[in-house]
Amino acid sequence: MALKIMILGANGFIGSALTSAILRERDWEVYGIDLADNKLGELPKDERFHFVEGDITINREWVEYHVKKCDVVVPLVAIANPAQYVTHPLRVFELDFEANLAVVRHCVKYGKRLVFPSTSELYGMSPDAVLDEETSPLVYGPINKQRWIYAASKQLLDRVIYAYGVRDSLDYTLFRPFNFIGPNLDNIEEPKEGSSRVFTQFLSNVLYRRPFKLVDGGRQKRSFTFIDDAIECLLTILENRDGRATRRIFNIGNPDNCVSIRELAERTIRIAQEFPELRDAARATEIIEVSAGEYYGKYYQDIQVRVPAIQAAKRDLGWQPHTDLDTAIRRTIEFYVKLGSFDPLNAAASGL
Ligand code: UGA
Repeated sequence: MALKIMILGANGFIGSALTSAILRERDWEVYGIDLADNKLGELPKDERFHFVEGDITINREWVEYHVKKCDVVVPLVAIANPAQYVTHPLRVFELDFEANLAVVRHCVKYGKRLVFPSTSELYGMSPDAVLDEETSPLVYGPINKQRWIYAASKQLLDRVIYAYGVRDSLDYTLFRPFNFIGPNLDNIEEPKEGSSRVFTQFLSNVLYRRPFKLVDGGRQKRSFTFIDDAIECLLTILENRDGRATRRIFNIGNPDNCVSIRELAERTIRIAQEFPELRDAARATEIIEVSAGEYYGKYYQDIQVRVPAIQAAKRDLGWQPHTDLDTAIRRTIEFYVKLGSFDPLNAAASGL
């Protein structure tokens, strides 16, 4: 029988890409909920996609009823932008931790499989050069660095889910995204700076002809992973052939795409010039350095290098990423160009 998958946050970056891939490549049914449907395009017309607009913290009965009804639950509702960890730490805790804990408990109660997004942030300032799911220490800064409330919330949920696995045999997989980028990551037309993660922030800066700001010189490194590669991995996890993903943790990342933020800025400017719509703006883009304090305020603390070990996913899921960073950048820009995000009217309409 076709799997019934429940996706909370189906209109998000990962949620919309996952829903689209499931409907395209599998015969499964998807039950989705989100606050809006702007990233879903024509998908709600698909008869295998049952979508409602709603809020998981309000529509609690809908959530519980559908956990009961579905085979696999994928709770993707969370605040995932560092600027908000420092400005709205309690909202991060309430949504990312409390609201998700309720869903986890429904899965335990009804014996449902849970595929849960942990995060690469969970490793914090781990001293390991390559971050391993089973062995790397998880290291955070002091309490006054509120940035860590996201990682700490996610870490505690990982531990709770793990414990439910040990005690109640909860069938779960924890996956840890490493800086996924791609179409629909964040809204680049949002004029407010800091409202987006770094790559889409840079694209937004091109649109509004603002300089790229390198926090503390942009020496910090991230491993950028193209969303299509990540979705392939998630489909394998959802399929869970022979229970290979059950009660396991998998990093999903691309260690070959580990670059400094400065390098990301330079590549973005270079590749943006391939697009006639962006050529002039990209050529004129300045790169400036700002301190972390100026950019994020005093509650922020950064992570210097983040490289995933992906042997577990390679060995046990037969997955590996294959999209290099330039291609990922190019395909994402292409998406926003086609969407019309770079049309001159967009910048004008926002009054900037
Ligand atoms: C992200 C977010 O916490 C989550 O989306 C997610 O859980 C996780 O990492 C992930 O996707 O792996 P981070 O990589 O720090 O955390 O977030 P970004 O906003 O993408 O920033 C990356 C780096 O760029 C940081 O060092 C930041 O200081 C820097 N940055 C950001 C700039 O130099 N300039 C900017 O304009 C914005």
